[in-house]
Amino acid sequence: MAIAIVILSRCMNVADQLPKDIRGEAYTGAATCIKCHKDLSSSYAHSAHGLTSKPVVDAALLKIFAPDSNSFTFDPHQKVVIEKRDSGIFQVAYRDGKAVRAQKFDIQFGSGEKAYTYTYWQGKKMYELPLSYFAAIRNWAISPGFPKQTFYYDRAITSRCLECHASYVEKKVTQKSAFVMDEEMERGSIIYGIDCERCHGPGKQHVVFHTENPEEKTAKFITIYKTLSRKQKMDVCGVCHSGNTLVAQRSVFGFEPGDDLDAYYSQDFVGFGGGNPDVHGNQTTMLMGSNCYRKSENMTCQSCHNTHENIKGNLSIYSQRCISCHQTTKHSPATLAKGSLTTNCIDCHMPKEPSKLITFQQAGKDHLSAYMLRSHHIAIYPVNKK
Ligand code: HEC
Ligand code: HEC
Ligand code: HEC
Ligand code: HEC
Ligand code: HEC
Ligand code: HEC
Ligand code: HEC
Repeated sequence: MAIAIVILSRCMNVADQLPKDIRGEAYTGAATCIKCHKDLSSSYAHSAHGLTSKPVVDAALLKIFAPDSNSFTFDPHQKVVIEKRDSGIFQVAYRDGKAVRAQKFDIQFGSGEKAYTYTYWQGKKMYELPLSYFAAIRNWAISPGFPKQTFYYDRAITSRCLECHASYVEKKVTQKSAFVMDEEMERGSIIYGIDCERCHGPGKQHVVFHTENPEEKTAKFITIYKTLSRKQKMDVCGVCHSGNTLVAQRSVFGFEPGDDLDAYYSQDFVGFGGGNPDVHGNQTTMLMGSNCYRKSENMTCQSCHNTHENIKGNLSIYSQRCISCHQTTKHSPATLAKGSLTTNCIDCHMPKEPSKLITFQQAGKDHLSAYMLRSHHIAIYPVNKK
């Protein structure tokens, strides 16, 4: 009894000393994880997942645009200018030289891999700014899907964006009428970026145990990925990588590894029924349609991606992962003659393709510009065949 109390009070002390996390008692926050997992944490801090949303810090924002590319002209009468003012940086709309609307950059979406989009707060609601920044052109263009005739400031951004680009937001939803829902979000509650516990589940008990038992080298009270089934592994990534058309039945912020994703999203019959999944945001369905996935027993996202390493752009390392299953390949002499057959399987079998969902409008261009992504439908593409 006495021993039990001593252990209990020691546990409670450890637990009490951990930072509080708005997601609930079971969570503790990335800062705590970093204490014991330093090696992983440094890579995480610079990863696309970690950086996919954050409050705009003016100095960082100023770095991305050259002074001569800080405006977007719609026509001779209308433009939007990115302006530094005393209270922050704004997207200011001008009509015939007169400023008619100005909204501040509050939150950045995207790590900048391909694009940044920005939002501003109005009370407890968030709206998207008219201009986004696209890495492919290193310049500003109209935010995807926005009108090209004039500036637009009124696209509401809901917590759904944050469900894939952040780790938490507190929201209040009220039913305004049969079909209209009204959502309010608490600014201060947002946990930016995709953090450790978003992918690994709540970790406080794990931390308490390992603090109490420093000699224990086997992980306790945290899901061991290796023990998950193939579907469970796919579901962990599928929370955010299986497309934008799924209807969430309940908030996916609560999803933990091991959970069944079907309990969160209602089936997307368009996407799974051999429809037309998009290269943007739907890597899961694309991959599941390829023979590599269908005819192997254990391919998952982790066959090629370790979310804790950064091998971005290193197609030769990725190609090694293909070769781990394809030691011998039958290529025709014509294909072999094209070279790079051992170091770059990717460009031929996972070519970059334009998204059907996302395009963007550059200034002075008649056509929309393509937003290119890797196709996760691994296959023999006709263009490479001779
Ligand atoms: C007090 C030290 C400590 C803290 C703090 C800590 N861990 Fe761990 N963790 C360990 C130890 C020890 C292991 C087992 C050895 C190893 O795999 O590195 C481990 C292993 C893991 C594993 C590997 C499980 C597997 O697949 O084998 C994951 C995932 C993990 N921790 C996540 C977290 C997360 C998330 C946090 C923050 C909520 C966290 N850890 C905080 C000590 C800690
Ligand atoms: C909570 C949502 C979420 C989960 C869960 C998630 N991702 Fe992502 N992932 C994103 C978002 C958002 C981006 C875009 C990041 C950016 O550049 O802003 C992304 C980007 C990526 C990228 C490209 C960037 C890079 O690092 O090269 C890869 C690869 C990736 N995810 C793989 C995975 C895998 C594998 C899993 C499952 C283990 C996973 N993701 C789980 C949301 C998620
Ligand atoms: C179902 C999950 C999901 C939702 C919802 C979602 N995104 Fe994404 N988003 C992703 C993933 C995954 C990527 C990266 C890979 C890709 O494009 O396929 C991404 C990429 C992006 C990028 C480019 C990131 C970069 O660094 O290149 C931006 C910007 C972005 N999303 C903004 C938004 C905004 C704004 C919303 C809400 C209107 C939103 N997203 C809703 C999953 C989602
Ligand atoms: C985008 C999802 C994602 C995020 C964010 C993430 N992890 Fe992981 N982590 C994974 C996956 C998936 C694995 C399993 C890798 C495998 O087995 O191939 C893993 C493995 C691990 C492992 C054990 C294997 C190893 O590489 O040592 C530890 C420990 C770990 N993660 C800790 C953390 C910590 C700490 C953070 C935050 C700093 C974090 N993870 C953030 C998805 C994620
Ligand atoms: C987990 C093992 C695994 C990995 C990793 C893997 N594949 Fe495959 N792949 C397979 C299997 C199994 C088949 C089906 C072979 C058959 O039909 O006999 C296949 C089929 C193919 C095909 C034929 C496609 C078709 O439609 O007929 C191509 C091309 C291919 N893979 C290329 C690649 C490339 C490129 C990579 C790396 C980006 C890769 N694979 C990674 C297991 C894998
Ligand atoms: C057979 C290998 C393979 C598998 C399996 C795989 N990927 Fe990829 N993925 C790649 C390669 C190669 C790239 C391009 C990397 C680069 O350009 O640096 C890529 C890029 C990405 C990107 C960045 C988007 C882009 O166009 O640059 C995301 C997001 C991503 N993968 C998510 C996933 C998810 C989620 C899964 C599981 C559903 C998955 N991948 C499974 C090989 C794979
Ligand atoms: C120059 C483009 C190109 C490159 C590079 C390339 N392939 Fe292929 N691959 C093809 C074409 C085209 C075919 C169809 C057969 C043919 O015409 O050669 C094919 C067929 C295949 C097949 C199906 C035939 C079989 O062997 O079962 C597999 C698997 C495959 N490739 C894997 C790979 C892997 C793995 C790599 C990298 C080590 C790679 N390919 C590099 C274009 C390419």
